[in-house]
Amino acid sequence: MQFPENFLWGGAVAANQCEGAYAEGGKGLSIQDVMPRGLQGEPTMVPTEDNLKLVGIDFYHRFREDIQLFAELGFKVFRTSIAWSRIFPRGDEKEPNEQGLAFYDALFDTCHEYGIEPMVTISHYETPLHLAKTCDGWRSRRMIGFYERYVRTLFARYAGKVKYWLTFNEINSVLHAPLMSGGILTPREKLSESALYQACHHELVASALATKIAHELMPDALVGCMVLAMPLYPLTPKPEDVIAAMLESNKNDFFGDVHVRGVYPGYIKRYFKEHGIEIETTEEDLRLLRENTVDFVSFSYYVSLCKSAAGEEKSAGNIIEGEKNPYLKESAWGWQIDPAGLRYVLNRFWNRWQKPLFIVENGLGADDVLVDDGAGGKTVEDDYRIDYLRAHIREAGEAVADGVDLMGYLTWAPIDLVSASTAEMKKRYGFIYVDRHDDGTGTLARWKKKSFAWYREVIATNGASL
Ligand code: BG6
Repeated sequence: MQFPENFLWGGAVAANQCEGAYAEGGKGLSIQDVMPRGLQGEPTMVPTEDNLKLVGIDFYHRFREDIQLFAELGFKVFRTSIAWSRIFPRGDEKEPNEQGLAFYDALFDTCHEYGIEPMVTISHYETPLHLAKTCDGWRSRRMIGFYERYVRTLFARYAGKVKYWLTFNEINSVLHAPLMSGGILTPREKLSESALYQACHHELVASALATKIAHELMPDALVGCMVLAMPLYPLTPKPEDVIAAMLESNKNDFFGDVHVRGVYPGYIKRYFKEHGIEIETTEEDLRLLRENTVDFVSFSYYVSLCKSAAGEEKSAGNIIEGEKNPYLKESAWGWQIDPAGLRYVLNRFWNRWQKPLFIVENGLGADDVLVDDGAGGKTVEDDYRIDYLRAHIREAGEAVADGVDLMGYLTWAPIDLVSASTAEMKKRYGFIYVDRHDDGTGTLARWKKKSFAWYREVIATNGASL
């Protein structure tokens, strides 16, 4: 296995899934503070005790200890998000909240003390609740202005501390999860496709604007888009299925196409026309898109699915649904495991966009069992996680051998945290176990799992140990 020199190994988390301290340091409420069931239930509109994210894994108070563990793993990069409502509690203030800014100063400084480069997701499923209520999230063009003020504040403050920036987490997921992804409170079934694509347009313009401002204020910074990558294979070799898979994939690729090429592709214009979708764009919007394309493309990868013209048996996916692939096994949460799909995605994206790629999320959610480690401590024998990650990283290595320009690989998530789709602790991803449970009990103690030593070796040998 040959990975490039200076390959960026590490791990990724999001503020709302790990920080907790939801009302400390002047933070305002975000949509996650009122989504105790993730994608499984309705927002409660006020924080409720059963919402595990209010405490998370208490990363807000324990980040020093956790980053020390990431350093022990040998991380080159640690990806986290900034909670927008720590910086602008309501989202529409003129001045930022100094306490929120100071928290991320401390976090990034700690990363640098350990030689870890932070990567920041500017917006990771945590729109300030006030903006969700007053603007219906990204449906409103006003969001572009609030986001602009937010990013200008971040870039001015963290220039020199943060080199890698991602504008929106899994930007294509807004089509499937409008509230979590776009802060849109109107229920999905009541949203017209025009309203949804209008929200996409606002996010795309905001992303281009952030890229422009980042390049002006931080000449050394690299700005990436971030998409949820999910290959949709034709269910059979029937040409109708191949076309159905292509058309469905287009809806996901649209976001990357605009970020990389700076224009709306022909296939989406045709889709808009044939489905009566009308969106408002200005000359200035189109210029911003054209002139401010991204430096790299980052993505999450967990599962692949199938697509047929007829629409067969549905299978769970990461936010996006599709049909079951009879050749794949699935995780305990029904996500189909497909390491080769990662090589396929990497080649596909590279051939399509010719931009450096960055895998910024990949991992296995599992119900781990904590056992005695024989030395007075606790551990998890998570060989299944090692198997999953080994197989995926090997396929990433195959893609590198295929000629793909791959900047790095980050696992989701190096430490257990609250899951996004189901808002539970039981679905664990980490190399580090956190003693916290779905009923809210637990000491929050951290224990290294078996996979901890394994990943440390992968990084130390730059993948040769695989
Ligand atoms: C991605 C998100 O969709 O997948 C993360 O960017 C999320 O926020 C991850 O946690 C895994 O999904 P889940 O639902 O198992 O937490």
